[in-house]
Amino acid sequence: MTLKINKVFPRNWYAVSYSKDLKQKPIKKRVSGKDFVLFRNEKGQTQALFPYCPHRGADLSLGKVVNGSLVCPYHGWAFNGCGTCIRIPSQPTKPIPKFAHTLSYPVIEKMGLIWVYPDNEEAPPEWKTFHTMEKVPFKLSPFQATWKAHFTRSIESVLDIAHLAFVHKKTIGRKTKAESTHYKLEGTLDQFVFSNGNAYLEYQFPHQWMLHSGKQENESFIQYVTFTPIDEEETLIMGYAGRTFLKQLSLLDRILTRYSLKVLKEDQAIVESQHPRPIPEALQMEAHVYADMAQVQFRKRWFQFLQSEPCFSLD
Ligand code: FES
Ligand SMILES: [Fe+2]
Repeated sequence: MTLKINKVFPRNWYAVSYSKDLKQKPIKKRVSGKDFVLFRNEKGQTQALFPYCPHRGADLSLGKVVNGSLVCPYHGWAFNGCGTCIRIPSQPTKPIPKFAHTLSYPVIEKMGLIWVYPDNEEAPPEWKTFHTMEKVPFKLSPFQATWKAHFTRSIESVLDIAHLAFVHKKTIGRKTKAESTHYKLEGTLDQFVFSNGNAYLEYQFPHQWMLHSGKQENESFIQYVTFTPIDEEETLIMGYAGRTFLKQLSLLDRILTRYSLKVLKEDQAIVESQHPRPIPEALQMEAHVYADMAQVQFRKRWFQFLQSEPCFSLD
């Protein structure tokens, strides 16, 4: 039972890279146990293909992009963004056989991030994020980390208020008291807001999270994070610190990126230590207290997913 729960993830778009990091060179990424090669076509649009060449299985991410097509490093077969093989150099005048083509996957660029939908058979859902991230002109300072932790444990770490006074006592939890009071949780299982006074966080199932510094109309600083299940062992965390002040100051970008990474680092060893690896499959299998209400909300939604929704599966 636990093994299976380890290996299923909600069907959704998952972030794999910052747009700025995909240039001329193709890159390989993994989502829900599936590998992809990303490259840019002649129009600069991102494409995602199955990365192992249909000829002899060479890794296409070791190849290069020529005139917008991805060229295999082994024998030079070339593939367009749809995965269609358009050239076989050893027999240039012969028709290209059907088995020479590879698979392509839905990919989209939003908010300076590249998102992949790791299924090429069904149409992906609409990509969405928080209203605030689409509308408010924040200057975004990126940060990312890969944890050897399950997707569910990683998400829960950012829904956890009670750990601030312990894990982050030198950074974001400096002024936080250990005792929990005046928490408020509003919304649905799919999207909720959790607050304790002025600051509040928003969560959108399954993988997007935002921390607000104050009321939405005049907030000057936010944190945004999205989680990607690489496989059952690892989770990619990609985020932004966003600000509406001193937007031109690049030194501030570096400071904010470094600070965000420091905060994540404080969590890492603890989240990576958690057992069982995914959250257990029923609420009563771990102890919950008042301060855990956002995590309990997440678990209810996660169990709903496990019981009745289609998934991406590693098996
Ligand atoms: S393995 Fe790719 S062209 Fe031969
Ligand atoms: Fe934390």
